[in-house]
Amino acid sequence: MYRSHTCGELRATDIDSEVTLSGWVQKVRDKGFMVWVDLRDRYGLTQLIFDEERTPAEVFTRAKELGREYVVQVKGKVIEREAKNDLMATGAIEILVEDLQVLNSAKTPPFTIEENTDGGEDLRMKYRYLDIRRNRVKNNLIFRHKVSIAVRNYLSEHGFIEVETPYLIKSTPEGARDFVVPSRMNPGEFYALPQSPQTFKQLLMVGGMDKYFQIVKCFRDEDLRADRQPEFTQIDCEMAFVDQEDILSTFEGLTRFLLKEIKNVDVDSFPRMTYDEAMKKYGNDKPDIRFGMEFGELNAVAQNKDFKVFNEAELVVGIAVPGAASYTRKEIDALINWVKRPQIGAMGMVYVKCNEDGSFKSSVDKFYDQEDLAAWAEATGAKPGDLICVLSGETHKVRTQLSALRMELAEQLGLRKADEFAPLWVVDFPLLEFDEESGRYHAMHHPFTSPKKEDIPLLESDPGKVRANAYDLVLNGNEIGGGSIRIFDKDLQATMFRHLGFSKEEAEEQFGFLMNAFQYGAPPHGGIAFGFDRLVAILGGQETIRDFIAFPKNNAGRDVMIDAPARIDNEQLEELQLEIKQPQPEA
Ligand code: AMO
Repeated sequence: MYRSHTCGELRATDIDSEVTLSGWVQKVRDKGFMVWVDLRDRYGLTQLIFDEERTPAEVFTRAKELGREYVVQVKGKVIEREAKNDLMATGAIEILVEDLQVLNSAKTPPFTIEENTDGGEDLRMKYRYLDIRRNRVKNNLIFRHKVSIAVRNYLSEHGFIEVETPYLIKSTPEGARDFVVPSRMNPGEFYALPQSPQTFKQLLMVGGMDKYFQIVKCFRDEDLRADRQPEFTQIDCEMAFVDQEDILSTFEGLTRFLLKEIKNVDVDSFPRMTYDEAMKKYGNDKPDIRFGMEFGELNAVAQNKDFKVFNEAELVVGIAVPGAASYTRKEIDALINWVKRPQIGAMGMVYVKCNEDGSFKSSVDKFYDQEDLAAWAEATGAKPGDLICVLSGETHKVRTQLSALRMELAEQLGLRKADEFAPLWVVDFPLLEFDEESGRYHAMHHPFTSPKKEDIPLLESDPGKVRANAYDLVLNGNEIGGGSIRIFDKDLQATMFRHLGFSKEEAEEQFGFLMNAFQYGAPPHGGIAFGFDRLVAILGGQETIRDFIAFPKNNAGRDVMIDAPARIDNEQLEELQLEIKQPQPEA
């Protein structure tokens, strides 16, 4: 028996018990006649004491030879600690060690495995298995487990069946590039790893499964960000015989349940907003609604004066920053420089200080009088003491810029509170999105999303105006899920492919299997997929998903621990009948 208790378990009530513990040596304090060791396992830390007088001599000698991260087993007696530590669960006791076995020695770890480590991000990624010993990463993984169990229980209780779908498939378009896998048995041919199980879950509906879910890995070859990994996990769901309302209420139920179960938070309102409204009010299709600062459009009150910049702009739009009228010239300049950074790309920023006495002081006083500025304050909802920040330019660009500024200011003002949760459905997304580069329309969600019935005639005349039965679930300014009601009619699906620029042959080759299936009695169906990593991170009060993934990739898409991706040898290449162009030395 390696242990009778874990290192997080023993309390004052265990005093005088004989126990056996196993774990890692976190710290050794050698005071000559006394040695203290912090012993760690997944469950916590327990202090061991080796005493020259009371511990057998050979055990005492061995204790002095212990190094950090040695794996040991000790037997001893639980005794009361002289200097109790209230911050530690086991802080009332220590173990007077009678026997010590070194189960494994350890090289000195490249960083300290403690709350505040001295290891940088890169080093900790390379030795991820050591980082997992630290509370931060370990607790995040335990937290992830808790969420996944809660999800499984909830969905299972609501009649959903978890079905596994294959990973070696054919391209499923979700807007990213595919990761491909060459087939040895079919030379020159490739599988694609699923960007999502989209087509399979639809086929499961044709198969009559009715309610499906899967906590599933998805693979997308796209540029990485804090909330994106090349392989990530979805809670993928699909239901038959449902309309949009059924889906929204089912998954509102799941979200409420998770917030209650995991965070003990009761969400009172679960608002819905159309895509158009979200863009107009927040410049963004995933607004953080934990705080205000809604956009006020100023064209009507700021144009047709003598200020050329605004007169020439497609949109003039501002936000009221609460309490920021007191910002110094330096602080305001910092904001102006912030929006002018290439990542944001604004040409400049106009500001108005709304003084406590009701007067206004702006950077464009030359062009606008107090009455004009009062109208701006009205349009942006600014109160005395606020600062109005105004940007102008081409509608889509300026909305994106002001949205970034809004988020930055909220961050600076501490309005993005990790323990506050504001979910939001964004509905009525456009079906299609024009891509300047290829000069054609793309499906905004994916090509299986159904258009709103009343908008179908617009497909021919004004495709950009067609709205989809598509929705996103937003939590605290993050898109944590997205889905749609699907096309289940073969002809409409064919029309859709045509609008997306697929020839009949291309559509047949890529999606013939789905169109075929639709000929055999496809039920009306729809679904959603949650980004599980994102959901877990946000419930955990953070936005970087890497911290909630056991073995994540770095920003260059590499696993630096196992050093992947890597070259494969010629023999393997030959077997796969692949030829690799070796990189040429630079001229
Ligand atoms: P979508 O592409 O919107 O929809 O993906 C669903 C959710 O998955 C998360 N997500 C990601 N998380 C981490 N890293 C990534 N690279 C990444 N990409 C997406 C997001 C997103 O909301 N098949 C459809 C769903 C459906 O229609 O039912 C789909 O995959 O949180």
